[in-house]
Amino acid sequence: MIEDQLYRETLLEIYRNPTNRGEITKPDLEAKLVNPLCGDEVKLQIKLKRGEIVEKALFSGNGCAISQASAALLAESIQGKKLSSVNKLRGNDILKLIGINPSPSRIGCALLSLEVLMEALKSGSKS
Ligand code: FES
Repeated sequence: MIEDQLYRETLLEIYRNPTNRGEITKPDLEAKLVNPLCGDEVKLQIKLKRGEIVEKALFSGNGCAISQASAALLAESIQGKKLSSVNKLRGNDILKLIGINPSPSRIGCALLSLEVLMEALKSGSKS
């Protein structure tokens, strides 16, 4: 319980002072999604190195603390990783990353960033 509270405070701190927030001028991959239930949005942009390694990942958007903090943590966690391993990320990985078990009504907030990431990965195959 105390641990959960600590994670919540950490998430709020990340929400207030997010790392990896910004825009990449010419991203190799990008996507933006809106949570249809609340209108919150997350955009993710990725710059690749040698076409296969995430050199830089930045997010932008507006929304609740969970959606924005999870986007910040996800962007941080994929930097330096190969696309082949980024592609294997699943919902449980995001929940581990944010360190809390959101209520069923807030799961979508936590997973919005993962959905955006998967859309961004697909954007690479369109170009
Ligand atoms: Fe909208 Fe969390 S309330 S994403």
